[in-house]
Amino acid sequence: MSVAIPQELVERLAAAHRVAVLTGAGISAESGIPTFRDALTGLWARYDPQELATPEGFARNPKLVWEWYAARRASIAGVQPNPGHAALAALEKRFEQFTLVTQNIDSLHQRAGSREVVELHGNIARVKCSIEQIIVSDFPADESPPRCPCGAFLRPDVVWFGEMLPAEALAKAEAAAEQCEVFLSIGTSAQVYPAAELPLRALSAGATVVEINPERTALSRHVHFALQGSAGAILPQLLQELRRVA
Ligand code: OAD
Repeated sequence: MSVAIPQELVERLAAAHRVAVLTGAGISAESGIPTFRDALTGLWARYDPQELATPEGFARNPKLVWEWYAARRASIAGVQPNPGHAALAALEKRFEQFTLVTQNIDSLHQRAGSREVVELHGNIARVKCSIEQIIVSDFPADESPPRCPCGAFLRPDVVWFGEMLPAEALAKAEAAAEQCEVFLSIGTSAQVYPAAELPLRALSAGATVVEINPERTALSRHVHFALQGSAGAILPQLLQELRRVA
């Protein structure tokens, strides 16, 4: 289904030199990866985030947590990027400065061809030592969880609730939000901080802020343009409109 894209938005985007984008689980939904907060299909509707996405949950039951992430890693490996990811990779080439910030851990932006991706919540493909925090690539596949040479358990390199975001990634994301002329918030419920603060920073700094989401979110009433629909349909359409004018 096509959504009317306001001409004013296309013109502002065509005139922009610096664009920042924040994506969330919604952009990967059309690839078949469940989101977190959908009332029926969301991961957090079916699983307890306190048990699976906190350092305390991992300390209580490392085997359960390791195996849950191993299953997610395997299912993510079987999916493909969708037209929304592809359109963002194509958009990157059109702007002097284009910062794609994602809360996703699935590498689908990179697989679609985006070159510069700022990962705020880590990446499920990587594994790190739960004590030393260093990335470990060689470990026994049959242990659950395997151990680091230092003796501590290994864990996925993702950010859990209560943990700090990678400082360098967050700093890059904040700078991009403050410097951009157009900010796109795509497929995120805008509930998890500090990521949810990025579009608000962009607004305060004077950027045009656009939301792409089939549902209204906590951010919707603040943005200049709320495009209600799926990222896989709207982003290719936006790219096409942009190609028509610039
Ligand atoms: P959520 O599950 O909270 O939100 C997903 C959003 O995507 C919702 O607003 C949906 O309406 C929207 N959506 C669904 N299908 C879409 C589509 N086809 N196109 C565009 N939008 C669509 O996921 P996030 O906002 O990404 O963090 O959640 C943020 C963080 O909370 C995650 O990174 C994760 C989670 O707990 C950690 O695990 C630390």
